[in-house]
Amino acid sequence: MKEQLEKIRSLAAEAISRAADEQTLEEARIRFLGKKGELTAILRGMGNVPPEERPTVGALVNTVRTHIEEALHERFEQLKASSMERKLRAETIDVTLPAPEKRVGRLHPITQTRNRMAEIFTGMGFEIAEGPEVESSYNNFDALNAPADHPSRDETDTFYFSEQVLLRTQTSPVQIRAMVGKTPPIRIISPGRVYRNDVADATHSPMFHQCEGLVIDKGITMGDLKGTLDAFAKAMFGERTRIRFRPHNFPFTEPSAEVDVSCFVCGGKGCRLCKGEGWIEILGAGMVHPNVLRAGGIDPEVYSGFAFGMGIERVAMTMYGIDDLRLMFENDARFLGQF
Ligand code: PHE
Repeated sequence: MKEQLEKIRSLAAEAISRAADEQTLEEARIRFLGKKGELTAILRGMGNVPPEERPTVGALVNTVRTHIEEALHERFEQLKASSMERKLRAETIDVTLPAPEKRVGRLHPITQTRNRMAEIFTGMGFEIAEGPEVESSYNNFDALNAPADHPSRDETDTFYFSEQVLLRTQTSPVQIRAMVGKTPPIRIISPGRVYRNDVADATHSPMFHQCEGLVIDKGITMGDLKGTLDAFAKAMFGERTRIRFRPHNFPFTEPSAEVDVSCFVCGGKGCRLCKGEGWIEILGAGMVHPNVLRAGGIDPEVYSGFAFGMGIERVAMTMYGIDDLRLMFENDARFLGQF
């Protein structure tokens, strides 16, 4: 019995010291101390031990058990320490590695262009006015002197909610909002979204942006309009830029003009950007029609003014050399990341 216990003790000591992980150690514990373990088997066999030897054998079993328990405990602590050490080593941070890339967003080219326009005009004393994208057909058409049969009123051109309510087709209704209830001088620009019932292609989009401008005061002339737009064009496209007025017709201005800027790539000689023209059209403008002043509650005998409406995409595409309007609205980060 004694030798058997000694054997169990040395087997256990060996198994425990050899256990390389907690799982193997637990197996060793079960093998020697478990309910069906080797030491337990000996205790069960105590019945066969002569009664006078039982206390000695019992004490011996207890000593072996204590030894095994201590060895298990000690090995367990060792394994725990080394697994912690391994974990720490595996998780150390290599501070010499490059940091993970953080992708920083930027402003959309339309926003950048709008901001630059706003900066230039506010620098000339303009204030920024806002108007809703859902407008009354009164503000969008009637108050702007558009005749009842004007083609832009057609459902094929305009998105209507009802006969009286629509998605504004231009930022010009902000002119009316800027005038009603106010006394000149009025000097505002109003950038924003406009909508037209168009199928998207390289030059059309059912939604795009305009920047309206309106100045009303005593004695405002076409000279003021030209001077303002000339200063704007030079600030926006460069000091050498010239502007050109071509006669046009808008219901809300008289006289009216379409305004071109000299091509800032070729300076007017003709190139790919200006399609050989030397000039690039960027806006419509004119002197505010007396009927529009009246609709805004302003006396055309006392005051006069000018207005203009500029295409923001048109300006952005020209400045950045973008040849397809749809790229502006696809939100492809590869495209947007270039500006
Ligand atoms: N609203 C006109 C357009 O959308 C532009 C414009 C604005 C023309 C103001 C003259 C004066 O085409």
